[in-house]
Amino acid sequence: MSVVPNQGNGKITVPELLQRKSSTATSSENSNPADSKKIVCLTAYDYPTARLLDEAGVDVILVGDSLAMVALGYDSTLPVTLDEMIHHARAVRRGTKRALLVADMPFGSYHSDTAESLRNAVRFVKEAGVEAVKVEGGERRLELIARLTEAEIPVMGHIGLTPQSVNALGGYRVQGKTTDGAEQLLRDARAVEAAGAFAIVLEAVPRELAAQITRELRIPTIGIGAGPDCDGQILVVHDMLGLTFEQTPKFARKYANVGEVISGAVRTYCEDVRSGNFPSDRESYHSGSSTKSEKGDPVRISIC
Ligand code: KIV
Repeated sequence: MSVVPNQGNGKITVPELLQRKSSTATSSENSNPADSKKIVCLTAYDYPTARLLDEAGVDVILVGDSLAMVALGYDSTLPVTLDEMIHHARAVRRGTKRALLVADMPFGSYHSDTAESLRNAVRFVKEAGVEAVKVEGGERRLELIARLTEAEIPVMGHIGLTPQSVNALGGYRVQGKTTDGAEQLLRDARAVEAAGAFAIVLEAVPRELAAQITRELRIPTIGIGAGPDCDGQILVVHDMLGLTFEQTPKFARKYANVGEVISGAVRTYCEDVRSGNFPSDRESYHSGSSTKSEKGDPVRISIC
């Protein structure tokens, strides 16, 4: 069974993130980054990534349904199932100690009746130990967010470009550029807050609109393609590490090219195996001369 690590000792919690909101407005761009109240979020889908992110100081780790596209190879987020999300969330839980762990409710898991949606959210908490769930949509999710919150499951909202609506939206486009669109997003943001969400993701919306929503809401806004004025930022970890095969959106700054590092390492390994350069004698075990130290050599994987 998964258990949420102990609170305290710098553990990020929902109340702590809410507290930061009031301080964010006063932290200027030139202030010491160590004092910044900005909320740093990234996605993760497996144990090693979660550990690296957590130990590097990320505040919120999201098991995003972007899993479907960047880790499972689907061309949208729609196919990923609740069981698959829970499987990955459990691995991320094992690698996350300090960050707040949030999981995306996948498409179809909260779109029929509220009772079933609540049961699905409860599975995330009980089976994967997540501390909050994220649902896409604004005014339409009012009742659901209120019900989950009432059941003590903190909810992160998500408005603007909501990838699960790709078929309804007709593609992945910036939202809220027209007056009507901007007004709808403002109504959506207010509804998500009124329903009890503790934070809201603003995806692919004009900077000016994101800034207005951020000023108006009491809960933190987490931007992705929404400019620098949000209370926090999130990126898909594969995008920022250079681990994707498709073109990434302009907001997805690439901080490393891990894809190239992996390709280079694997090409060298191929060459070494084919040329007999790997393994060397020092990388081999020897029979008949079992010394004390060799006996004690830790072998991580079992040898058949
Ligand atoms: O699924 C995801 O990774 C997300 C983030 C982009 C916010 O929803």
